[in-house]
Amino acid sequence: MPILGIETSCDETACGIVDQDGQILANVVASQIETHAPYGGIIPELASRAHIINIHKVVKQAIINSKLKLSDIEAIAVTNGPGLAGSLLVGLNFAKGFSSSLNIPLIGVNHLEGHVSACFIDEDKFDFSKNDIFPCISLIISGGHTELVLMKEYDSFTMLGQTRDDAVGEAFDKVSRILGLGYPGGPIIENWAKKSVGKNYTLPRSWLKDNSEFSFSGLKTATKNLAQQKIYDRDLSDDQIALEISEISNAFQESVLDVLMTKSVQVAKEFQCETILVSGGVAANGYLRNNFENNNDINAIFPERKYCTDNGIMIACRGLIDFRNKLFVSPESIKVNPQLNIT
Ligand code: KG4
Ligand code: ZN
Repeated sequence: MPILGIETSCDETACGIVDQDGQILANVVASQIETHAPYGGIIPELASRAHIINIHKVVKQAIINSKLKLSDIEAIAVTNGPGLAGSLLVGLNFAKGFSSSLNIPLIGVNHLEGHVSACFIDEDKFDFSKNDIFPCISLIISGGHTELVLMKEYDSFTMLGQTRDDAVGEAFDKVSRILGLGYPGGPIIENWAKKSVGKNYTLPRSWLKDNSEFSFSGLKTATKNLAQQKIYDRDLSDDQIALEISEISNAFQESVLDVLMTKSVQVAKEFQCETILVSGGVAANGYLRNNFENNNDINAIFPERKYCTDNGIMIACRGLIDFRNKLFVSPESIKVNPQLNIT
């Protein structure tokens, strides 16, 4: 009884298929990086247009890869928020048509819960036997969100706190733009930081009073000021500029990691949780993964890198949990909700 998941909330058109035991049968992602890169960020209108062009091809390819027939699909799971309204509409309307024409159930998925669900995928199978990790803390770090969530079960989410301004992925993207490095900023900054020779520049950490709340806009401004002082106000050779970019990228990454890890470990202690699930695009960052995984105070679980950034598998997996509980929505009542959050 396979579930097909559709994801179009931002700039990836994606489709994933899992069977009822959680085995992954297909995973197809069409990225729009080339479309948005010249602008240094996502242009919503271009994103919706690209989704319209890609969605049929992506879903068709996923079905071919799974070796299933269309009539084998048992339910459709689709992201209905949060995200860009025009992008969400493409996926949701496609899913509605698909479920109506095949006469199969439709499941609405919260994109953030989808990211978290990717933490339970082990060797290409969603693992339903991890009940012993609950309660646990979930740190969601993506381009649009930075949140700490308490989980008591696979489908029990209580928001503890979130960023007051920029999301952490957004800060990576903006810092990359400030340094003239391109889009998406996360992997680019990570690569530059690897070339640091350890000049030990230090950027500020925004701790705030509440451990579950974050702020990254001050760090972004401080990074901009450091770049002004170390690069733009000086007459440097290309090699010297490259060195400064590496050092600034490294200092930025260190500050982000320090704040995310210190605060989430503290919150885990407050709630007597031993495990932190780390998900969302920024969870692909190797420096962050190494540091969390080497922290003896907690047990950190990350999705495989390919399931950190947006994909259809995470939506199919979250949908599978609701499918088992028969939590369906009618095509007439489901709407996109760009501001949908965990409550
Ligand atoms: O989860 P995601 O694919 O989309 C949203 O739901 O927003 O996350 C995209 C974000 C972007 O801001 C991107 O720069 C960041 O994830 N990202 C990374 C890395 N790979 C992607 N940030 C830091 N290091 C990375 N390796
Ligand atoms: Zn995402």
